[in-house]
Amino acid sequence: MSKNNDELFKNVISHAKEYGFVFPSSEIYDGLSAVYDYGQLGSELKNNLKMYWWKSMVQMHENIVGIDSAIFMHPKVWKASGHVDGFADPMIDNKDSKKRYRADNLIEDKIARYLKDGKTEKSESLQKDLDAALASDDLPALRALIEEHQIVCPVSGTRNWTDVRQFNLMFSTQMGAMAEGADEVYLRPETAQGIFVNFLNVQKSGRMRIPFGIAQIGKAFRNEVIARQFIMRMREFEQMEMQFFVKPGTEMEWYAYWKEARLKWHLAVGTLPEKYRYHDHVKLAHYANAAVDIEFEFPFGFKEVEGIHSRTDFDLSQHEKFSGKKLQYFDTVENKNYIPYVIETSIGLDRMFLLTMCNAYEEQDLSTAEKPDSRTVLHLHPTLAPVKAAVLPLVKKDGLPEKAREIMDNLKLDFNMQYDEKDSIGKRYRRQDAIGTPFCITIDHQTLEDNTVTIRHRDSMEQERVPVKELDKIIGNLVSWKNLLK
Ligand code: GAP
Repeated sequence: MSKNNDELFKNVISHAKEYGFVFPSSEIYDGLSAVYDYGQLGSELKNNLKMYWWKSMVQMHENIVGIDSAIFMHPKVWKASGHVDGFADPMIDNKDSKKRYRADNLIEDKIARYLKDGKTEKSESLQKDLDAALASDDLPALRALIEEHQIVCPVSGTRNWTDVRQFNLMFSTQMGAMAEGADEVYLRPETAQGIFVNFLNVQKSGRMRIPFGIAQIGKAFRNEVIARQFIMRMREFEQMEMQFFVKPGTEMEWYAYWKEARLKWHLAVGTLPEKYRYHDHVKLAHYANAAVDIEFEFPFGFKEVEGIHSRTDFDLSQHEKFSGKKLQYFDTVENKNYIPYVIETSIGLDRMFLLTMCNAYEEQDLSTAEKPDSRTVLHLHPTLAPVKAAVLPLVKKDGLPEKAREIMDNLKLDFNMQYDEKDSIGKRYRRQDAIGTPFCITIDHQTLEDNTVTIRHRDSMEQERVPVKELDKIIGNLVSWKNLLK
């Protein structure tokens, strides 16, 4: 990360805390590693991101329905899905610092350093070796690369490493009152399995015809070896996943369809297309026959936000095997039973949140020849912004607060609003800019005469005078979901 980007990222993190978007969990006890709480504005923004995803996936597709399955599932689910045996990261410990690392992360950092030092060939060849070692799950090969490239522990500076071992990422706990005889259950590491085990329930109760999808938003838990970059890699996070069930043999068409559709969803909020790219997987997960990441350029580089996976019939076949229940679909057109193939779209809500904050954040210099000036502004899409409009009486007297309250009371029925009468109007505009409020409604003396107000637009800072009776309609149009979903 260059110094500027490093600083920018730090500023985004402190801005998120200062304005009530994201706090470290249990902060009064010095926090809990890789666990975060969303504050009063963060939870509004998060809810809007969820709503955007849900509307576009469920409401806009007649053949996609949503569910909300439990976090705890029968332990056999995770045996069947392959997570008990295969959901692991390669880890390595430094014997001097006693710090634990992901072996692949250490190597990736070395690749980045080679690149930064202009050693392009070295970085490319190490990347190739890393990909090969990961693709074949070759732990000794990872250890050999760490040795060969003289990778040192960032804390102790030594090369006194253990062997590379697999580390299962699932959290487990006991279900039942008695420790003895209680069943070991897992906190789900993905929401997808809750969809697979409900495939037949939904298909039959909803009379769904293939191709159709089941969507879900919910918490997932992973005991990440190394958690870093704020809410990028957390131990408790939220996923928005959709499994699309298709006729075997048609999965590549649907894979292409969802790959394009999902990128469109990202771009609809106005993000520059060059901030995104696709990254095809070299190492496919145990269930996939094709997989691509949608990556976003964060201040610390291009990183995965969403995955699109062609999961074949792996999951349903495994659950058939382990449960002994038939999980097949009768295709009335083909007149036969089969296990559908699945295309999955899986996006991390917290990563989408971080993306949204990084993309929106700007420190603007507004200085003129006469005076220095600046503002920090969040250019959030109006539909996603936590607060849609602020109502600001120009002064705290002459009946302006009363009129402002009347306007506020009417608008708050439809929109999340803020009322603010403290400090100068300029300071109040800046406070709203900093939390991404797209519109400020100012009530002045003219309002009392002709029932008009000014609307100040956050990005252009331009103001227009409009009748109070049209405010619902004007704000409604500016923050409508239609602006994102059409
Ligand atoms: N069901 C497929 C699945 O879970 P994944 O690539 O492991 O696939 C999907 O995860 C998405 O979940 C990722 O693209 C990322 O946005 C998010 N995600 C995964 N691990 C995460 C973590 N530790 N913290 C925050 N988000 C995470």
